[in-house]
Amino acid sequence: MNLPTLSFGELKAKLPIIQGGMGVGISLSGLASAVANEGGVGVIATSMIGMRDPLRAKDPEAADHRGLIEEIRKAREKMTDGLLGVNIMCALTNYGDMVRTSIREGVDVIISGAGLPLDLPGYLREVSEDVKADVKTKLVPIVSSGRAASILCRKWMNKFDYLPDGFVVEGPKAGGHLGFKAEQLDDPKYQLESIVKEVIDAVTPFREKHQKDIPVIAAGGVYTGEDIAKYLEMGASGVQMGTRFVATHECDADEEFKRAYVQAKEEDLTIIKSPVGLPGRALKNSFLDAVSTGLKQPKKCVHKCLHSCAEEKSPYCIAQALVNAYRGKLKHGFAFAGANAYLVDKIVTVKELMNSLKDEYDRRVK
Ligand SMILES: Cc1cc2nc3c(=O)[nH]c(=O)nc-3n(C[C@H](O)[C@H](O)[C@H](O)COP(=O)(O)O)c2cc1C
Repeated sequence: MNLPTLSFGELKAKLPIIQGGMGVGISLSGLASAVANEGGVGVIATSMIGMRDPLRAKDPEAADHRGLIEEIRKAREKMTDGLLGVNIMCALTNYGDMVRTSIREGVDVIISGAGLPLDLPGYLREVSEDVKADVKTKLVPIVSSGRAASILCRKWMNKFDYLPDGFVVEGPKAGGHLGFKAEQLDDPKYQLESIVKEVIDAVTPFREKHQKDIPVIAAGGVYTGEDIAKYLEMGASGVQMGTRFVATHECDADEEFKRAYVQAKEEDLTIIKSPVGLPGRALKNSFLDAVSTGLKQPKKCVHKCLHSCAEEKSPYCIAQALVNAYRGKLKHGFAFAGANAYLVDKIVTVKELMNSLKDEYDRRVK
């Protein structure tokens, strides 16, 4: 049996695979367009998207605005198929501008987490009124519990008469910032299998009452076609994968960043307490060792990127550390990675990856 399609309302992707947005340069137009062209949902991440702009130091927000438009248009030029999404973290200081700009540029899906995107439908309404046309961008929050999914459905209905167009449910095995307390990460109650079920149960009454399909997408530790089959059998409509797409030629990060994944061993994966105040999963290296032994990097906040950053107390600037990693300067930064990154043994093309996922899925469901 072939992998099913994934629909958000009238928008349909041939494959039920979303490439997770990976901020600070890891998923830009190169990776997103390659994934879309293979039939998946390619996602550009907006955090620090204007980092290569020569005028960023003067006006970070204007640089990110230009960077986002450029990446969306570049992706569209390269795309022959699939859907284009944008990942926008709620904690970004320029959240409103990133959302409005994405809608105006006609992205298919906005995927938004790292906080509850309580006001997201308001932007859709605002841009529709402004351009005097219905805009088709679909709104997909990222949640880590059934409770968060219910709250969003209820609040969006009350305030905007709008239900989410889908949910990404992200479990504790994901890479990057995690929506859990450190002590919850290994607790069976919070594992992806449990919270996918919770979210499906939470959205079912809203689906039924309002006759709207709300696809639930599983993320965090999904690695093989067998894993995809497992979550689809549980009732999910698709998966979101990050780590596997880092290890592709089309991933927008420097080769050194990808090589860190290929070389990683299981014991290299670690949980850090990010300056943003959330735990994050990353690959241990000399930079993180120095931070954990108390080394403070001399820093001045120039990026002004996140509301939740405890700038005064932070031992280092996470934005700068991630920019350095994206550029392959891992001595001065670190790579976020999912719990399965140690399984990566080579860099492949997105086409090869998608084909192997399809084959593994077929073998499992035959
Ligand atoms: C390098 C890296 C950067 C990430 N950056 C973001 C981000 O900016 N915003 C976000 O919502 N999720 C981010 N994530 C999470 C991914 O989008 C995805 O949901 C997650 O990695 C899925 O787990 P997997 O890596 O095990 O497939 C990041 C993950 C990685 C590995």
